[in-house]
Amino acid sequence: MSLVERALKKIQESRAGVSPKLDADIAFASRPAAPVGSAAMPESVEAAPAAPTTPARVVHIDREALRAARVLPPPQEERALAHEYRHIKRPLIARALGRMGGTPIPNGHLIMVASALPGDGKTFTCINLAFSMALEKDLSVLLIDGDVAKPQISELLDLRSEPGLLDVLRDDSLDVESVILSTDVPRLSVLPAGQQTDVATELLASARMEAVLRQITARDPNRIVLLDSPPLLATSESRVLASIAGQIVLVVRANQTPQQAVVDALDLIEEGKSIGLVLNQATENVRKGYYDYYGQSASNQD
Ligand SMILES: Nc1ncnc2c1ncn2[C@@H]1O[C@H](COP(=O)(O)OP(=O)(O)OP(=O)(O)O)[C@@H](O)[C@H]1O
Ligand SMILES: [Mg+2]
Repeated sequence: MSLVERALKKIQESRAGVSPKLDADIAFASRPAAPVGSAAMPESVEAAPAAPTTPARVVHIDREALRAARVLPPPQEERALAHEYRHIKRPLIARALGRMGGTPIPNGHLIMVASALPGDGKTFTCINLAFSMALEKDLSVLLIDGDVAKPQISELLDLRSEPGLLDVLRDDSLDVESVILSTDVPRLSVLPAGQQTDVATELLASARMEAVLRQITARDPNRIVLLDSPPLLATSESRVLASIAGQIVLVVRANQTPQQAVVDALDLIEEGKSIGLVLNQATENVRKGYYDYYGQSASNQD
């Protein structure tokens, strides 16, 4: 077993019986080789035209640029990655909407993409998950750049100068819906980080943040909200975000994130929270090993 696998086993054992709602789902996002061309992601077509009286900016998603930035996979990897993200998204959507015979979990529409440490792959996961979820015809997806200190999503989509989350948190009179931007990927919208401020950390951990997130999720029962976030072990505000989100995707970088960091990060998340684990940048061998292990573990839990 790898370090991560041992960590997961420990987590499952330590939480067994205490937190029956712990979802030890694990999914994989492998490492694409080199960026180039196109394939399985949603086509860039115009979103529904804005009403003539309210012209709104439609953000162009430049997939070539995202590939060049290594946030989308190269064409030869797209099919495999799309398959992996289907596995990742399905239980998340099911829990959010109460599908597959389940009851919707409280605030399950708000999904925080978290990790223990910097560089584990939160932003990569967030963006690829958003694209994958936006393929679902009966959903809409809102991607929030909640890593305001390092607003990678805003940067990648060229939205650094747009008003966004921080502006709404600073100004109570600003309606969050007014700063959400449509994109030219059908059903996908984005909330940029907004204008930087020295009190960004405090704003992110504020009661206003909680109110804004609740407002966003209450607005549309078919909207899934994906929140990119700062690393759990490095910042305090991400713990506040974790307490608000109904579901948490914890990204673990294969062969890199130390076991103790994964355990410590999970300890910061309250018991009973729905957690999915994504083993990111896993090689074929790691995946095979884990499936063998997890198959056993899952049957032990039943
Ligand atoms: N599955 C993957 N395949 C290939 N490259 C990946 C994958 N996941 C992440 N990366 C690359 O690893 C680097 C770190 O990923 P990313 O920026 O998503 O991490 P992060 O957790 O958001 O980091 P930070 O905490 O600094 O915001 C990036 O260069 C990204 O392109
Ligand atoms: Mg990031």
